[in-house]
Amino acid sequence: MATTKTTANSTKSTPVAKKTTAAKSTTKPAAAKNTAAKSSTATKSTSSRGIVKAKASAAEGLKELFVDSLKDIYWAEKALIKALPKMAKNAENENLVAGLNNHTAETEEQIARLEQVFQIIGEKAVAKKCEAMDGLLKEGQEIMESTEPGPVRDAGIIAASQKVEHYEIATYGTLCAFAKTLGYDDAAELLHTTLEEEKQADITLTEAAYNTINFDAAEADEDDENEAE
Ligand SMILES: [Fe+2]
Ligand SMILES: [Fe+2]
Repeated sequence: MATTKTTANSTKSTPVAKKTTAAKSTTKPAAAKNTAAKSSTATKSTSSRGIVKAKASAAEGLKELFVDSLKDIYWAEKALIKALPKMAKNAENENLVAGLNNHTAETEEQIARLEQVFQIIGEKAVAKKCEAMDGLLKEGQEIMESTEPGPVRDAGIIAASQKVEHYEIATYGTLCAFAKTLGYDDAAELLHTTLEEEKQADITLTEAAYNTINFDAAEADEDDENEAE
């Protein structure tokens, strides 16, 4: 793996060599390995060109990356426990309110499941700030501030919530794959249960939007137009 990275890196600084290496590697995999090995020395001198410098605490293996990602989503779920009821309070459509409340209850179980996963892999359950979720929740707050309560705000809440669900779906999908690769089958099963809940929450939100809320919000546009005439 490391050698593949170095090939890409080393070729950035030497465009002529890049084309040759790339062409060789597509047709002759065995030769590509040799090229990568030879070029690793050259890579060190070019690593300052766009390559992110790792922190002293940087993960060196998949297990560490798995633990880091778990800490990240643990923080995210804890933030959601506070954010979801706030969204439910601001929503008016009863299906949407019920969906958000139901997902708050599920989120509590998801937190407990993550704690079980930490236990299975022999790590302490620690939350690490998830910048992505922090940003998504700030966006949700902004959407509520910029919409009148009613169908339009409901449509905005759905938009914001679905971004959250998609982030979670991507995260739990990755975590399941990491757990399976590392041989933590019980942890993978727990993470998979949560993944399915996140997918279902996304479907519920889509249905709420398509069945009524988006149409009600569009009607609000028409009412505005009629008043203006
Ligand atoms: Fe969740
Ligand atoms: Fe979720």
